[in-house]
Amino acid sequence: MTERRHVLITGATRGIGRAIAEELAPHWHILVGGRRREAVDQVVAQLPSAEPFVAELTDDDATLSAASGIGRLDALVHSAGITVLGNIAELTRSDWRAQFELNVVAVAELTRLLLPRLREANGQVITINSGSGLRSAPGNGSYCASKHALVAFTDALREEERGRVRVTSIHPGRVDTDMQIAIQAQLGHEYEPERYLAPRDVARTVALALSMDPGANLDVVSVRPAR
Ligand SMILES: NC(=O)c1ccc[n+]([C@@H]2O[C@H](COP(=O)([O-])OP(=O)(O)OC[C@H]3O[C@@H](n4cnc5c(N)ncnc54)[C@H](OP(=O)(O)O)[C@@H]3O)[C@@H](O)[C@H]2O)c1
Repeated sequence: MTERRHVLITGATRGIGRAIAEELAPHWHILVGGRRREAVDQVVAQLPSAEPFVAELTDDDATLSAASGIGRLDALVHSAGITVLGNIAELTRSDWRAQFELNVVAVAELTRLLLPRLREANGQVITINSGSGLRSAPGNGSYCASKHALVAFTDALREEERGRVRVTSIHPGRVDTDMQIAIQAQLGHEYEPERYLAPRDVARTVALALSMDPGANLDVVSVRPAR
């Protein structure tokens, strides 16, 4: 039997990240990323081959300490993210910082720390971006800006690491997760899950990117609700 490849998935305690862990579980060893030990352990216990990766990703020391424990890494999937809604007229400096700290700075830092492992494996980096990384919408400016910045990050990384590490940017439309429930509640809208993608729809695009032969890469993938 061939040895399982190792993938670290951030934000794997809930939502899209968790669906990615479940989708990859039959063939991969999963490093389950999350900031709460108990929640991470619960997911680890449900997977056939997994271990915890516990770190508050906006904390430098916690991130460095968790990353230092990784010996082998074939793929890194960045799914942890937040959304801070609000018009530009209302968003404060701290709103912008919180938005960028997790969605951009933490992604760049964790990638930097793990690039040596990924290069050794001729590995892959996948970011869960958003439709908001392709076009901006009113009321969501700081989130859209953070996801546009993430496009710039993946575009630069793809070229810098060409021939060593492959880089994919995945852009889902709205997905039925806690994040979307919170967004619709904040907007005062009724929640209609059937209007959204299932987390598994996004997970399947990650599995597709990871299944490509070494000579090919999915650079950018857009996946949107069909209805
Ligand atoms: N839902 C959508 O409609 C949608 C659409 C397009 C793109 N996306 C993107 O998809 C990604 C996943 O979203 P989701 O809907 O699955 O979100 P979610 O259900 O809110 O889950 C977010 C995950 O990120 C983790 N996380 C949050 N802050 C963290 C931090 N500071 N350090 C470490 N982990 C942290 C959470 O951990 P805890 O359990 O500890 O809170 C959780 O596992 C995000 O990047 C989002 O922008 C979502």
